[in-house]
Amino acid sequence: MKHATDIQRRNLLKLAGFTLTATLFPGVLQAMNSRIKSTASANFHPDVEIELQMEAIMMPIFDGPRTRIWKIYGEVIKGPKNSLVNLNDTYLGPSLRFQKGQKVRIYMKNNLHAESILHWHGLHVPSEMDGNPMYAINRGETYVYEFEILNRAGTYWYHAHTHSVTAKQVYSGLAGLLIVHDKEEQSLGLPKDQYDLPIVIQDRSFNRQNQLVYVNNMMQRMRGFLGDQIMINGQPHFVLQAATRPYRLRLLNGSNSRIYKLAWDDGIPMTVIGVDGGLLEKPEKYQYVMLAPAERIELWVDFSKKPVGTELTLRSLEFSAGGMGMMGGMGMMGGMGGRRRMGMGTMGGGMMSNSVIPNGSEFQVLKVRIDRKELGKETLPKKLTQITPLQISNTANRNDPRTIRLSMRHMSALLNGRSYKMNDIRPDEIIPVNTLQLMEFDNGFHGMNGMSMPHPMHLHGEQFQIIKRQVNSRHRSAYSTVSEGLMTNGWKDTVLVMPGEKVSILKPFNDFKGLFMYHCHNLEHEDMGMMRDLLIQ
Ligand code: C2O
Ligand code: CU
Ligand code: CU
Repeated sequence: MKHATDIQRRNLLKLAGFTLTATLFPGVLQAMNSRIKSTASANFHPDVEIELQMEAIMMPIFDGPRTRIWKIYGEVIKGPKNSLVNLNDTYLGPSLRFQKGQKVRIYMKNNLHAESILHWHGLHVPSEMDGNPMYAINRGETYVYEFEILNRAGTYWYHAHTHSVTAKQVYSGLAGLLIVHDKEEQSLGLPKDQYDLPIVIQDRSFNRQNQLVYVNNMMQRMRGFLGDQIMINGQPHFVLQAATRPYRLRLLNGSNSRIYKLAWDDGIPMTVIGVDGGLLEKPEKYQYVMLAPAERIELWVDFSKKPVGTELTLRSLEFSAGGMGMMGGMGMMGGMGGRRRMGMGTMGGGMMSNSVIPNGSEFQVLKVRIDRKELGKETLPKKLTQITPLQISNTANRNDPRTIRLSMRHMSALLNGRSYKMNDIRPDEIIPVNTLQLMEFDNGFHGMNGMSMPHPMHLHGEQFQIIKRQVNSRHRSAYSTVSEGLMTNGWKDTVLVMPGEKVSILKPFNDFKGLFMYHCHNLEHEDMGMMRDLLIQ
């Protein structure tokens, strides 16, 4: 790995030296000069200083043998002690909690026998702080991140973003939550502290020795990894023990490729108060919510009318996941006939790479047990915040949308027919800084061949707004199994683009020059090359 990256860095030097000029690509040159930021800057005065260490360890997740994982441990060096909470008994990294406006310095030390780098998903930070794979560091090296929290309050997260091995690294544990608060949100009187709970949803497979199984054959890569056990907050048998009161639940789909269609089993609608980039203008009710990899939703859920002893579950319902979803799972893997131990299923022996529950099948996600009476006085605000709609008339390209065509064929997953290459900026990937851009993701909207899959498309940098979704007639009936639950309002950084669909977004590129990525957040697709850089200049 190290060598591949070094070669790419050298190519960057060549590219920068021979074919580009400094004025044309200042971001690239800057990146090249200071490949790794390994020292703190004297003129940056952090409010919070944190040290993170990546380590390969054995962790007791199940009874019996410990599980080998890649774990991030952290420590607050300066600033509020509650900026970081380490999670024991799981592979997840520490939960980070910041306040908007805080200046944050993070020392990230790699103690793994592999190169790695962390990306702050959803945060608007300078290019060198964004965890581009070109900044991956080796064992023994430290990357020093310094940035101000510019984002509004919301549920963000961080994860490894290492060239071609992101999926494996995230799967092994290199990910965690990053929650931002701000004054406006704190003045709303939403449930807080132990009533403001993260729910990280991931699927994993473990073998009889309690070891993580990651299959990386052709099928798994084209479709994306699907595990046979749901983990909540990194726990196999998680039960939310709740009181008879309102809660704020922050859901993150931290899975590599699994898409969830979430609904309460008591038929009560889901009350969504927030999405990727924070609170919605007002609460919205859905019969079900689609949550694709990397997407977040915040739910208001009120248990005050439930008798103590009530149990309810959040389920993932059936939907049509397109050619490689249900079909792929059913047809090629033997589908539902195999053994099934989704959800709270007991840990058992499973070398079951061929017992995968396909994307789009039904299973249990989260179990809630109302176990005590408590009075919560919070009420759901009618209005949560003001979201100013971005205007297409303010874009730099209103008549010339930047179209990103999503395609899959043979062993490749492509964006505009291209595969990821480090430092391979094409003219249509250069964007002037401080502009608003009209962009569209086209997933075979204009008639495409066989292999169509849903792609959760993500852009680094600032949050965007979704302005239009269109689906072609061929895919309309499959689309109708998900369309009522697609998250479209509010600030987003990841959007699920279904087969046959075209999604138009307005995306601001303010403040920072340099490289910012766009990619599919099906991590196997990303590693297969469904990722590119944008150069903001
Ligand atoms: Cu969550 Cu480029 O990633
Ligand atoms: Cu990101
Ligand atoms: Cu994809």
